[in-house]
Amino acid sequence: MDVLEALNSRYTCRAFKPDPLDRDILLKIMENATRSPSWANTQPWEIYIAGGYVLESIRKGYIESFKSDVPTDPDIPFMSDWPVQHQERMKELGIKLYKHLGISKEDKDAIEASWKLNFKLFGAPIVIYLCMHETLSEWSMFDLGSLSQSIMLAAQEYGIDSAPAVNLVAYPKIIRKEIEISDELCIVLGIALGYKDNESSQNTFRSNRRPLNEVVRLNGI
Ligand SMILES: Cc1cc2nc3c(=O)[nH]c(=O)nc-3n(C[C@H](O)[C@H](O)[C@H](O)COP(=O)(O)O)c2cc1C
Repeated sequence: MDVLEALNSRYTCRAFKPDPLDRDILLKIMENATRSPSWANTQPWEIYIAGGYVLESIRKGYIESFKSDVPTDPDIPFMSDWPVQHQERMKELGIKLYKHLGISKEDKDAIEASWKLNFKLFGAPIVIYLCMHETLSEWSMFDLGSLSQSIMLAAQEYGIDSAPAVNLVAYPKIIRKEIEISDELCIVLGIALGYKDNESSQNTFRSNRRPLNEVVRLNGI
């Protein structure tokens, strides 16, 4: 798969088959992805990968917490006061996704079931937790972002789908119960990996993008 094909075919997969991933392929993905650039090659990422019984314990904890309305407590607080235009894009995403899924805004149960997929870890057999030291700045966060995309594109090469999600790290205490992650590290983002469930309409949804002439300003070209 060439890079442009990988860029254009990647999407957030929100329903995975339980089929496990090959350990060697997983390591190949990580070997290639960690070629990502970082500030002065600081490589600030600390990576923890959960699968098998470890991930099942995390999943169980997440589902229970979701059911009991346990407040989320991510290491990096979720942002609530987004600027208006960003709020509008988020709203548009929700409206289009639910329309695609055939869910009306009055159907609270269906909305909750769709939302719950996050806390079922999308049914994925693998979740990669990207962490960095708590003393680091936005610059290292930038490096983790770059690594994230590399992981997802490298996965594409092996026909493996992905979902980057803050909800995967919404309950860090549950993750830390199953995986020894120092309190000095922030668990920044989770990336679910696996093979898409072809039966789920979650996976035929494609988000749009702002028009190029709105986001790219050419000067002197
Ligand atoms: C940092 C980050 C956090 C995200 N968190 C979630 C999440 O918690 N749940 C979810 O369903 N999608 C999540 N997404 C996926 C975005 O909604 C998705 O990337 C966006 O709508 C564009 O769609 P696409 O990835 O299918 O192209 C996240 C993406 C990023 C980059």
